[in-house]
Amino acid sequence: MAKPANPVHSIRWVVEGEPGPFGSHLQLLDQTRLPQDTIYLDLTTVSEVWQAIKRLSVRGAPAIGIAAAYGVCLACRTAKPKSFAELLEDCRQAAQYLATSRPTAVNLFWALNRMNHTLDSLPQVWSQTSFGEQADPARWLQIQLLQTATAIHEEDRLMCHAIGRFGAELLQDGDQVLTHCNTGGLATSEYGTALSVCFTAQDQGKKLHVYIDETRPLLQGARLTAWELLQRKIDCTLICDNMAAHVMATKEVNAVIVGADRIAANGDTANKIGTYNLAVLANFHRVPFYVAAPSSTFDLSIANGDSIPIEERHAEEITESFGRRTAPEGVRVYNPAFDVTPATLIEGIITELGLIRPVTRQQIESVLQVI
Ligand code: MRU
Repeated sequence: MAKPANPVHSIRWVVEGEPGPFGSHLQLLDQTRLPQDTIYLDLTTVSEVWQAIKRLSVRGAPAIGIAAAYGVCLACRTAKPKSFAELLEDCRQAAQYLATSRPTAVNLFWALNRMNHTLDSLPQVWSQTSFGEQADPARWLQIQLLQTATAIHEEDRLMCHAIGRFGAELLQDGDQVLTHCNTGGLATSEYGTALSVCFTAQDQGKKLHVYIDETRPLLQGARLTAWELLQRKIDCTLICDNMAAHVMATKEVNAVIVGADRIAANGDTANKIGTYNLAVLANFHRVPFYVAAPSSTFDLSIANGDSIPIEERHAEEITESFGRRTAPEGVRVYNPAFDVTPATLIEGIITELGLIRPVTRQQIESVLQVI
């Protein structure tokens, strides 16, 4: 079956002038404006990238990491000439600052660590660089950093396709899948994670039907997943989050597949708030519950989900999201953006290196080839 052209380019590095990438900037599809408006943001400063991540113009664990990596490259854009040492320090500070934008998705810290490693290696390379190239340290530095940022971007694209291939083996023609939040091209560099499984199954000629949780409070499912599935002509139905139990009880749901923001060493998984509910419901209804995530979403430094930092967001996202007040002034609000699903409720974790099943520390280490 012919592959549909990829309709989603959520993150792009734009080369502004010739020659070379210096002066280039980051372009993001503003996800807060979808599905009504397809508007690209042109970001030229580190602080603009921080804001874009914070307000969810770019969101989804892998996409946040990719955007932040490019954000570090923007620290080389400087109006006044600076020395190599000053620029290096600016980039280090940019990485530190970007790490404060959102706490839960470990891909952010994973990507920034890679940028920091590149920064650490550069003084030695610089000292061996010829005098001609040293004429413009900002340009030189940005070229080096861009190599790492574009590698992160491209590796994510490949990981997502591999996740899709492993995950599609779990689905049959005619299956009905239930998903939560948005895990497609918008949340990653191209195919996505949980949605990559659906896209790949479709590429293989399997016809699926996908139930989309709207995903309160910010409606990533309704606004973004529905948009992506319709673009790819995948049969889908939007439901409110609180309809999932009824759907599992009365319709045949063959699998629940969701993404992840951070997976602990024992497989406990943080993902968009409401994922844990789905896992409990799937368990009760004996529907297999799968998580799809690249290896960059694993945090093997933490033993279990208790140590995953859970982001709490503004009350207004619940009381007046999308411009209309829906709760009385003064009411107390609790707005955690993520929850943790215990590993025991997860049938398998689909990674680019294969399926982790059963979800145990040992099996995670074996599939991820941890030595
Ligand atoms: O707050 P968001 O929209 O960034 O949350 C995103 C999710 O929870 C996704 O399910 C997760 O990042 C996986 S994206 C492939």
